[in-house]
Parts: sequence; C-alpha cells; structure tokens
Amino acid sequence: MNEVTSLLQENKRIKSAKYVSNFETVFACPICKSSMKVIDFKSIICSNHHTFDFAKHGYMNFTTHSVNTKYSKGLFEARRKLITEGAFYKPLSYAIGKLINEHLVKTKEIISILDMGCGEGSHLSNICDIVRSTFFKSVVGVGVDISKEGIMAASKYYSNKIWAVADLANTPFKNKQFDVILNILSPSNYTEFDRLLKSDGIVIKIVPQSGYLKELREHLFLKPEKQNYSNSETVERFKESFQFVESSRLSYTMNLNKSSIEWLVQMTPLTWSTTEERINSFFNKNSAQITVDLDILIGKNSI
Ligand SMILES: C[S@@+](CC[C@H](N)C(=O)[O-])C[C@H]1O[C@@H](n2cnc3c(N)ncnc32)[C@H](O)[C@@H]1O
Ligand SMILES: [Zn+2]
Repeated sequence: MNEVTSLLQENKRIKSAKYVSNFETVFACPICKSSMKVIDFKSIICSNHHTFDFAKHGYMNFTTHSVNTKYSKGLFEARRKLITEGAFYKPLSYAIGKLINEHLVKTKEIISILDMGCGEGSHLSNICDIVRSTFFKSVVGVGVDISKEGIMAASKYYSNKIWAVADLANTPFKNKQFDVILNILSPSNYTEFDRLLKSDGIVIKIVPQSGYLKELREHLFLKPEKQNYSNSETVERFKESFQFVESSRLSYTMNLNKSSIEWLVQMTPLTWSTTEERINSFFNKNSAQITVDLDILIGKNSI
C-alpha cells in the first residue's frame, strides 16, 4: 500500500469516527451494557474499558469472536450491483420510504433508522436517501450485520452512516433508541427489536411471498417443495411479537439483462443447495423475466 492510499484510509477512519461521536450516546457496551465514548477518533470504549476499534473503512466490529458465514465478498458485491445498477429492488425502497412517512410522527427533527441484517448496506443507503429527500430532513442510518464482509463493503461504499459488525440478537445500543427498525430478508430477534424501538417507533420486516424469484427457483430445483415457498410461519411469529399494524404485498416482474442475471445468480443463497450445472445454465441466459414478490409487515411495540 502506498503512502497516499494509507493517508486516505486514515482519513476515512477518522471521518467516520467523528460522525459516530455525534451519536455516541446511543451506544451501550455489548459485553457489560455500560455507556460508550469515542476516544481519539480511533476506538469506541465503555466505562469498563471494553474497547472496539474503528477499521480503516470506518466500521466498528463488536463481535467478541470471529463468525464464519456463507455470505461471501462476491455475494455482497453482486447484491450491491443488482440493487444499485440493476435497480432490482427500487419499488421496494420507495414502498418502505412511503411507509416510514405514513407511520412516523411528522414533527420529529431527526429520525433514526436501524437496519438489522443490513448486508452490504445498499437498501439502507437508498431508503435513507428517499426519506431525506422527500419526507424528513435529517436521518441517521445505522446498519448491523454479523458478516464482516457485508459491513466492510457497506462502509467502503456508503459514508455518513454507522456500520457495525454485531449479532442482531445482542446489539451495542441502549434501550429505545430507534424510530424505525428495518429487517429485510434477514433473520430476526423480536426481543431485541422490542428493546431497541422507541415507544412510537415501527418495525418493518420484509419476507418473501410465494412468487419471490419463482423463475429462478423453478430452474434450480426439480422438487416442487423447493420451488414453492410459504412465509406463513414467519408472518404468524411477527404478528405474535408486535401489536400488529398492517401488512401489504409488493409484486412486480422485471426483465433482467445478462449482467443482472449474473448478479442475481451470484447474490442469492438459493444456489447453495443445487447443482453447478443448473446454476450455470441459468447464468448463461441473455435475458429473463424475474418476479419479486414480497410481504411488507409493519409492527409497533407490544404494550
Ligand atoms: C439474505 S441476506 C439479506 C441482506 C440484506 N438485508 C439485503 O436484503 O440485501 C441475510 C443477512 O442476514 C445476516 N445475518 C444472519 N444472521 C445474523 C445475525 N445473527 N446477526 C446479524 N446479521 C445476521 C447475514 O450476514 C446476511 O447479510
Ligand atoms: Zn463494557
């Protein structure tokens, strides 16, 4: 690494630590739960001296042991390209932005959005941009994921956000800090969501509906039970965990070009349980119609 690159990275780490220091009161140590402070624009430290350093791209790692996940750098890169260049989830970002506007009290000066299982961060970045340009002037976006690869990519591409490697079941935040908790196609921990949500906040969970990526599933799997998907158990669990507000279904079909098809195949965990041959024959297509079919669930704190 040459001197210029090293200085730029140092700069990025300091910039990010400065940004995080504006919101340090939100943090609680994931080990002992005490308050935390940003020190020397280098680390965030609790009152019992548990110390977590800022990485060169500006994220913090709150895990106490390394976690191996099947989500790779390549998968997150493909996800970012399909979301940003392929605009594959654009209608979803706008639907979520609109719901945030409808459900939050308009008089708030600043709103905080926490994305639990944010992956490489493009959804959070897009949603913050939409909310900021249309509805609320000031938005702070916080992304948490257990995958270091995901958070590393997020902090590399999106600045002025708070990015943390952490388990969504044990996050480094105090109680009742967030106006919105997003949970997009990721696992949940409703006890933790409930703990973190402000009393007038909302949880927005996105789950696949039966038609989600059906053309890809039909191609990858021969068994009908793998081709079909039911979200009923997930939806039931959500309804039991929150004072239920509403659910809506978002369905659309997009015509993907060759690049987008390649990103789609690389970004989905669906390929983890099929053969190389089936993956390759889809990968080599020049175009394809692909369905996005999702349930958007909105919950408020249980009383
Ligand atoms: C299918 S990906 C979705 C990522 C992102 N929300 C998106 O839609 O592009 C699921 C994500 O959940 C994350 N995840 C799984 N278990 C987690 C946990 N216990 N804590 C935090 N993140 C977790 C994975 O690392 C992965 O990034
Ligand atoms: Zn501590």
